[in-house]
Order: sequence, then structure tokens, then C-alpha cells
Amino acid sequence: MSDYRITLLKGDGIGPEIVDQAVKVLDKTAEKFGFTVEYDEALLGGCAIDATGVPLPEETVAKCKASDSVLLGAVGGPKWDTLPGSNRPEAGLLGIRGALGLFANLRPSVIFGPLKSASPIKDEIIGDNMDILIVRELTGGIYFGERGRKEVDGKPAAWDTEMYTVPEIERIARVAFEMAMKRNKKLTSVDKANVLESSRLWRETVIRLSAEYPEVELNHLYVDNAAMQLVRNPKQFDVIVTSNIFGDILSDEASMIAGSIGMLASASLSGGKLGLYEPIHGSAPDIAGKGIANPLATILSVAMMLRYSLNRLEAAQAIEDAVAKVLKTHRTPDIYEEGFVKVGCEEMGDLVCAAL
Ligand code: IPM
Ligand code: MG
Repeated sequence: MSDYRITLLKGDGIGPEIVDQAVKVLDKTAEKFGFTVEYDEALLGGCAIDATGVPLPEETVAKCKASDSVLLGAVGGPKWDTLPGSNRPEAGLLGIRGALGLFANLRPSVIFGPLKSASPIKDEIIGDNMDILIVRELTGGIYFGERGRKEVDGKPAAWDTEMYTVPEIERIARVAFEMAMKRNKKLTSVDKANVLESSRLWRETVIRLSAEYPEVELNHLYVDNAAMQLVRNPKQFDVIVTSNIFGDILSDEASMIAGSIGMLASASLSGGKLGLYEPIHGSAPDIAGKGIANPLATILSVAMMLRYSLNRLEAAQAIEDAVAKVLKTHRTPDIYEEGFVKVGCEEMGDLVCAAL
């Protein structure tokens, strides 16, 4: 029997090619650090719709629940864009987050030294070691609230609801405070408390919980201001905690500040050992199958898995170090700069393995 069982959800577009490289790197890491991993594959997203008619088959949920951790590539593509909302590939992603209770989404935005010039923000604004962790609530709020269509004054209308309960806010805030304690002890809670009642409850709850973390310096920003501050002075941030929809938006913004969305990993945690790890970029259908996708965000997602679910801290660090080393000389097309060797997806995976 292997030490760990990992379910692979390769998904659509470039998903399969980047996951293959990440598996190669995990196998190499396991060999080096003396543990074993076995894999099982399951369908999610467009490939699941094609094979079974639904984006999240029951079998997929069962396989994920029976594993130690889940590695996801990406889902979605133009082929499924015209399906009704509840049967789109994205519904599968939301479904698996809900089914596995993955309420805490960690999205680090880190600048890899050699990639600094890839950021559209001026050098002096980013500084030398921008490192922001966005903690996004992932199973509540407007993504999971009631929604529908109706008629208003005889005209078609549609509505969605934002709602948070105190326990939901407390558990995500607690994750954020704990993360801040392990980092620079600064936490920014982002809301829209000048307008939304759900945000006022969010803010009150975060303030109440802060009594348990006296060492953490807590501040609050309205989401519009936070969006502005992220480009004005990203260095002011350490950990940011926010709702599902605000976190969706701010994490895309923060990823761009870091230079390349092709580099950033994410973890979705349930409070227990089971987590789901995925690159934050999408399925890039335009380059799928061409062998030019950047597998590094998925490889770095494996590092997060080793750190947060499997408690293999040294192995996680080894992968991150190997990636940093390879970036000094080699680049995939999305992060290519003159003077570097341009490589494809598979070669990049091989290089990281060699650097391990
Ligand atoms: C993300 C994505 C998803 C989200 C989409 C694909 C449903 O944008 O993970 O950030 O909005 O959560
Ligand atoms: Mg998003």
C-alpha cells in the first residue's frame, strides 16, 4: 500500500498536460524523500459532461473523498460555453468545492525573483519580495446563495443573494488569523461594510475574533479601496481575508501584480486533511495540445499539497527551490524573455525533476 492516494482531476484544455508534468515531479519528489504515492483519475468539467452528461459525476465526489488529496488541472472551454449555468463545467468546480467542504481557498501571490520584470507594476512599487496571501471564503456567499429569474414590471429580471452566517465568517477568519500568525502577523479584512449588511456582519465578526489573536495587527478595507491599494502599494499586505466573490476578483488582480498567472498555485482546504490543489489559471483552450503550456503553477500546487495536506514540508520546499533554480535559465513561452532558453510543457517538467 502506498503512503498517499491522490485523485487527479485533469479536466479540460491544458489540464491533462500540466497535471502530467506535476505528477512526474511528485513521483520524483516521493522517490527522493522516501515515500510513495498512488493515483486515481476522475472526471470533472467539460470532459465529464461529454462522458456522463453532468460536470460533476457522483463517482468523482466519492473518489475524492476516499483520497488523501486532490490535484486539479483546469476546467471549461468554448465547447461548453452555451450550456445552461447549472450544467456548465464551472458548476462542476463549484460542486466539488461544496461537496468536499472546501471553505478556505489560499491564493498566494509571490514574485519569483527572476520574473520580476514580467510584472506590469513598476519595480519600486513591488519591492523585492512581494508576498501576499489571499484567504478567500469558498463555499458561501453569492456563489452559493439563492438565485433566480422573475419578472419586474412585466420585464425579465434576475437575482442572486449574498448571505454569510457567523460560523461561516468565523471559520474562514480563523484560518486567516492562523496564517497571519505563521507569517508577518498582519491581516487585512476586505468587505463592503459601507453598503452591504452581510459585510457589516463580516466586519463585526472578524473584530470579535481578533481578541483571540492579539499579536495580529488587523485592519479593514472596503473592496474598492483594496483593489486600488493592491496596485498602489502591494507591499502593505501580508494576509488578506475576504468573501467568495471579492476574493475571486482580488486574487486575479493580485496574480497579475506577481507577473504571470501561469506561475501561481492555490489550495482549497476543508479544515481536515483533505485538500484540493490547483493552478489559479484557466484551461487555456487556445493553446491546449500544443505542448507549450506552463506547468509550473500546477507543479507549485503539488508543493502546496505537500505542505498543507501531507505535512511533507521539506519535500514542498525542495519543489519550490527546484522551480526557482530552473527559472534562472529556462522559460515557457508565456514568461519568455530574451537571453533564456525557451522550452515546452514537458521539457519544463523534466527540468524541474532534474533540478530536484
Ligand atoms: C476561480 C474561478 C472560478 C470562480 C470560476 C471558474 C467558477 O474564476 O477559481 O477563481 O469564480 O471561483
Ligand atoms: Mg476567478
